[in-house]
Amino acid sequence: MNIIKFDSLDSTNNYLKNLKTVVGDEVIIAKTQTNGRGRRGNEWASYEGAALFSFVLLKDYNLSIEKYTKLPFIVGISVLKVLKSIVNLEFKFKWTNDIYLNNKKISGILVENINNRFIIGIGININNTNFGKFKDIATSLKLETEREFDIESIIKKVIEQFEKEFSNYKNNGWKEQLEYINNYNYLFNKEIIVKNINNSYQARAKEIDITGKLIIEKDNNIEKIDIGEISIKKL
Ligand code: BTN
Repeated sequence: MNIIKFDSLDSTNNYLKNLKTVVGDEVIIAKTQTNGRGRRGNEWASYEGAALFSFVLLKDYNLSIEKYTKLPFIVGISVLKVLKSIVNLEFKFKWTNDIYLNNKKISGILVENINNRFIIGIGININNTNFGKFKDIATSLKLETEREFDIESIIKKVIEQFEKEFSNYKNNGWKEQLEYINNYNYLFNKEIIVKNINNSYQARAKEIDITGKLIIEKDNNIEKIDIGEISIKKL
């Protein structure tokens, strides 16, 4: 692990994207970001006190590209396990890779595929208590526990956990990990709104299946949805 720290960056993901050569052990940490990015072009509010970091996974060409489609899940599982090991709170896994606590988002993950590498960017709200316009939908460890935590040690734990989880997944598949996240499936049995380009409808979320799709119940029919095609909103 080669930790490189900055007081401020536009985005730790961008920093890694723009690096000409990477060895694979780089971990970029910023105290704040001026252009923190989330999925689907969303903004990630990047206040001091949060863990804001990115690291690289070099593509192993012996591994089919299909295998990498589970990468966001494996990262999410790693963050979930580490948070649970730090404080015994009701963290939940929100399909496909957010972590929720008490119905609010505590961590978001952005995985980007650039040529021969995956850039894994993670934001975890730790000691920050100010969320600007996201105040009603976000929370942090400090807000929930009234304690302060060591940010760098949490970052290191997440990366170590990811290395274990990814190697386990490569060797054994993700059946066990899938079972784990289904145990903490935030959306399970919740009414959701599924939105795609053509229409939007209401459904009830169920388990995550072995292919990574979310099973939903719609008008008494069972269907499966893929995050690539839709966006979801809890009712
Ligand atoms: C999401 O919830 O949509 C993903 C949020 C990912 C935020 C992290 S913070 C560190 C890294 N740098 C970024 O610009 N984004 C990720």
